[in-house]
Order: sequence, then structure tokens, then C-alpha cells
Amino acid sequence: MKKYRLSTIAVHGGHQPDPTELSVGLPIHRTTSYSYRNAEHARNLFSLKEPGNIYTRLGNPTMNVLEERLSLLEGGAAAVSAASGTAAIFNTVINVAQAGDEIISCSNLYGGTFTLFDAILPQLGIRCKLVPLNDEAALNAAVTDKSRLIYTETIGNPGLDVADLELIAGVARKHHLPLVVDSTFTTPALLRPFEYGANIIIHSCSKWIGGHGTGIGGIAIDGGNFDWNDPRFSLYTQPDPNYHGLVWADAFKDAPIFALRMRTVPLRNIGACLSPDNAWLFLQGLETLPLRMERHCQNAQKVAEYLAAHPKVKWVRYPGLKEDPSNGLARKYLTQGCGGMVVFGVKGGRTGGERFIDSLKLFLQVANVGDAKSMALHPGSTTHSQLSDEQQRMAGVAPEMVRLSIGIEDINDILEDLEQALEKA
Ligand SMILES: Cc1ncc(COP(=O)(O)O)c(C=O)c1O
Repeated sequence: MKKYRLSTIAVHGGHQPDPTELSVGLPIHRTTSYSYRNAEHARNLFSLKEPGNIYTRLGNPTMNVLEERLSLLEGGAAAVSAASGTAAIFNTVINVAQAGDEIISCSNLYGGTFTLFDAILPQLGIRCKLVPLNDEAALNAAVTDKSRLIYTETIGNPGLDVADLELIAGVARKHHLPLVVDSTFTTPALLRPFEYGANIIIHSCSKWIGGHGTGIGGIAIDGGNFDWNDPRFSLYTQPDPNYHGLVWADAFKDAPIFALRMRTVPLRNIGACLSPDNAWLFLQGLETLPLRMERHCQNAQKVAEYLAAHPKVKWVRYPGLKEDPSNGLARKYLTQGCGGMVVFGVKGGRTGGERFIDSLKLFLQVANVGDAKSMALHPGSTTHSQLSDEQQRMAGVAPEMVRLSIGIEDINDILEDLEQALEKA
């Protein structure tokens, strides 16, 4: 499959028609468990001597197709799905860091990730240092001997600043830390972070991957391009008591051990696994991902240009606008299009913004992004409402900000809806 191009992999990757029934559609393996051939087979599966299905919390043939397809699309070595994007992020962090360790993250994050890093990880003794995006000096200064990973979103939610992946990867490489990239807003159709030095890619599949707002799920993809054999990554270099003293870095020298350990330790023991039905929904969505992203990007570009010229609009952020602060980085990293998100401030502040959202007819007021349908939200009072004013500022949320996820409807209907709502704002 690797020889094929992106749109072909999106349709075929990881799946071949069933050899016995010859069904072309991917079966949904709605099963909790698998029958072992004999006691030896069961013993080998559990001791990781032999790969195979054990129990759906650890893996499932339908989920495996999604994992393989997304890994192929990103150019990774292996992937592990999870119950949500949030679970994929949590599994990733605890697959590297433990109590007493630190992680470093660029601060312009999705609100849920911000809270996970800032409030939940400290409960486990893991501290997160937040640094401004693309600030090389601040990143370098944040590194200590306790640092275990660097984290960024490709396009921050909701500020829409574009990450300078080569710059951040350069810092990560210099200190031999893995770079974890949440590429939810870009998807492999627009950006492939491994090509710029990322080591692990995360997606919330609940967004553009699925593309229809029908399921929650997430995935972490291992680039297989990081050397874990370093005493600082003691989860990989010290004997694991849960596997009778197995040392991951020694036992599986050429394997993507980050993914292998994620499946057999965090996924197995915390249990936030995807469901086969949701994996199937995401695979249906993936088939049209490149086509949909093309339309999302075209529509969003037109919406951004329309808003930028509108007298009732105070400011607009879209990386594809020439005057946008991220446009230079977008020209480098987002050559296929700048994504489906547009944020802007209506004149009249928070009240103007709320009146605008309440006047929309086609756009749905929804706390989600990446659906085929156009959607609008006021982040300050919803997705980022748990954050203090200062934290909201750090995450790139202005009080008057309206967030638009531009769908794939006819652009004229989208623009007409925005026009009538702006008239009332
Ligand atoms: C950039 C980003 N990452 C992760 C998540 C979390 O994903 P999920 O809702 O699937 O847990 C979201 C959700 O909005 C997001 O926007």
C-alpha cells in the first residue's frame, strides 16, 4: 500500500475484501473476545510472543484497519486507537511520563487538552510547562532533566496559529525528546507532521477524519523514528514488573515500541478503547477525507475573505489570508489548503458575537468542529469556559471570538447565512 498516493490509501489502506465471503464492505467485528486455538496459543498471545486478537479492549480487526489506514496515511510505523482524542492524548503522555516528570507544551491548545495538562496531569505528579507557540528560546529554557516530551497542535484550537514544526522538532531533537503533534485540524490530507520531524501524531477522529459528526474516537500514531533507549525513558529501559521484568527497549529492538507499549499498558489497563462501530464510521469518513478537505478549505478561504471585507467584522484569523500572522508558515506547511476553521471578532464585543450566533440559520450552534455541516460557537463561554481570563488569553481565546467550522455546503448558502446574521449583530 505504501507505494500508493494519499487518496488511494484513504480508500483502500489496511483492508482487502474478505477472502471467504468475498464481501467488499469492511465487516464490523462486534465481538468482545476471540477464541484461542489452544492453551499454548492463549499463553503466547498474553506473553506477547505471538501477535493476535486477545480481547477487544486491546484490539479488534475493524479497529486494526483504521489504525493501519491512518498509519499509512501519515507515513507512520503503527497506530493505536482510543475512545476519544482526549484518551489518545492521555495514553500518549502516560506512555512516556510518570510521577516526578515534566512535559512541555505550546500553550495555544484545545480547552480540554489545556485542562488535562494544567489540572489533571499534576494529580498524577506530572507537571506541564506551557510555552508560547514557536518561541524557540522559551522552549529551550523550559527543558530540564525531568522533561519527557514536547507537545503542540498543528493549528491551535481555536486561535488558529500555525505551528512551525521544523523549529519545534529542532528543539526536541537537540534535547532528545519526542515531539508529539496533535494534527486534528490539519489531517493527513493537508499536512504530514512526520515529514517535519514529529515522532508521534494524534488525531481526534471525532472531527474531519470521521467528517460527519457521528462518533467519538481518537488515535495515536507512532512514527517509529525515536530512540527510546535512553535512561530518561525508564518506562522503556527499566524492567516492567507487569510483564515479568521485560525491558521494552531490549525486547523489541526493531518494532514501534511506543505503539506496542501503549496498546499493552495504557490501553489495556486504563481501558478507554474505541468501539468497532465507531472505527467503521471513521473508515467510511476516511474514504472521502481528501475530497472533503479540499471543499472545507475552499469554502473556509472564501468565508475568511468575505469576513475580512465586512464592515461589521473587527478582525479575522485564517492562515490562508495574506495578512494573517500565520500566513508565512501556512505557505510553508499548508500547501494543500489551510483547513476548515475560521475565527473572527464581531464589532460590538461579546454581545455582538452572541447576537450573531443566535441569528444564524444554516450554521448550527455546536461544540464540535470538522463536520460536513457548518457550525458556529463562542469558545469563551463554552469549550474554553473552564479556563481563567489569563488562561484563555494564553490559549488564544478573545472574549468576542466567534469560531466557525466551515462545512461542505454550497458556498453561496454559507455566505448568505453569514450575511443575514451579521446584519442583525
Ligand atoms: C485539536 C483537538 N484535539 C483533541 C480534541 C479532543 O478530541 P475528542 O473530543 O475526540 O476527545 C479536540 C476536541 O475538540 C480538538 O479540537
